[in-house]
Amino acid sequence: MIDVLLGLQWGDEGKGKIVDFLAGQYDIIARFQGGPNAGHTLYLNGEKVVLHTIPSGVFQTNCLNLIGNGVVIDPVTLGKEIDKILPLCPDLLKRLFVSQKAHLILPTHRALDAASEAAKGADKIGSTLKGIGPAYMDKTGRNGLRVGDILTHNFKEKYDKLTQKHKQMLRQYGGTPIEWEQWEQPFFEAVERMRFLQIVNAEYWLDNHLKAGKKILAEGAQGSMLDIDFGTYPFVTSSNTIAAGVCSGLGVPPSAVGDVYGITKAYCTRVGGGPFPTELEDETGESLRAAGHEFGATTGRPRRCGWIDLVALRYAIMLSGVNKLIITKTDVLDGFSPLKAATAYSILGNETQEVPFDICDADITPVYTTFSGWEKPISTCSSYDELPQSFKDYCDFIEKYLGTKISHISNGTGRDQLIVIS
Ligand code: GDP
Ligand code: IMO
Ligand code: MG
Repeated sequence: MIDVLLGLQWGDEGKGKIVDFLAGQYDIIARFQGGPNAGHTLYLNGEKVVLHTIPSGVFQTNCLNLIGNGVVIDPVTLGKEIDKILPLCPDLLKRLFVSQKAHLILPTHRALDAASEAAKGADKIGSTLKGIGPAYMDKTGRNGLRVGDILTHNFKEKYDKLTQKHKQMLRQYGGTPIEWEQWEQPFFEAVERMRFLQIVNAEYWLDNHLKAGKKILAEGAQGSMLDIDFGTYPFVTSSNTIAAGVCSGLGVPPSAVGDVYGITKAYCTRVGGGPFPTELEDETGESLRAAGHEFGATTGRPRRCGWIDLVALRYAIMLSGVNKLIITKTDVLDGFSPLKAATAYSILGNETQEVPFDICDADITPVYTTFSGWEKPISTCSSYDELPQSFKDYCDFIEKYLGTKISHISNGTGRDQLIVIS
């Protein structure tokens, strides 16, 4: 069976921390989409580690880790990440596997990302500028280079052919000419190193493990509202972040999929541009950012903060068939009262519980249900029974509205700061 874990909001729900915990119960963790735009944070013996391309199961010593075909890989970023992780995880390279069908992010993809964003001006997506969009465009445009290509004798020829086209496009965008040597030399050095990784025919590799009865967890990146099809388009990323992305991003059949864990913060954040109906552009929003240390794990940008949006959450749960809900950063709401949760959107005086097609243009006023804050801090609780009643009421309301049971409650950054319910 392959279980799935994915973000239900606009990313940064705490996937890294939860996968690191759950990995103790799995044989394999497999990333199925996204790339170095992701920043998954976990704490190892009190030390903060941020993973971008490497799956978050590497610190559980019995766990194998796969970077699947649906991921886009920047060899330079991956090389740097490996160097950073190796001292903490000496057998990393024995337990790390890469699909030969994963696409490569080239230096020109990064340059194209920046040029495209600059050309959009005020309408920019707020991309992490890691080259994600251009790399996926080359994949669907049937021009991309894949990990398997680095093992072929004419990789450089293929690279030159594709990048000549990119450089032509960049000239059309204008802007300062780029010293390509400074970008390409580290790229080719990193590609050389990548040749020594365990590059596998990953769909067969996974099938063999599934047949052997191994337990696999597919690790999502970004969040459901950033999904290319169902997110707040065009303010989205370029991959399918919902459960549907697992089958195409790993080459596993839908019948192999078991539990689907969906993660939400107890409130909501978004980094980059685009609609965010429950955003708080006031002191409460500032206080949430301060209390939750809401700054991007990849770019350091301040995250926009707001109340939990149950309309968007129910949509995300529906899209992926989430049957286990994980609620994180509950401790951040210690001291906040009252608390609010959006239960409908009011658009031109009409109430709806559906996410509208034109979410970017619609003038949405959230309809809130209000809750009183917790009577004691959550951060110090280590069992369900110890949790304050007001928080249990908040959870009951969320479960009923979403029709999904909460399986885990996270109340701190550490691996052990997690209350397991089922
Ligand atoms: P990811 O992209 O979903 O893996 O999430 P990020 O790592 O980008 O952001 C989540 C942040 O919240 C990280 O700094 C985590 O250490 C932190 N975090 C995760 N769970 C909790 C929690 O329950 N409480 C608190 N206070 N912080 C948490
Ligand atoms: P994790 O896995 C939060 C956002 C960017 C931007 C939009 C498109 O850590 O949750 P892209 O670089 O994909 O072209 O950016 O998506 N974004 C994320 N926001 N967490 C992430 O990943 C994100 N990955 C991309 O800020 O708005
Ligand atoms: Mg993140």
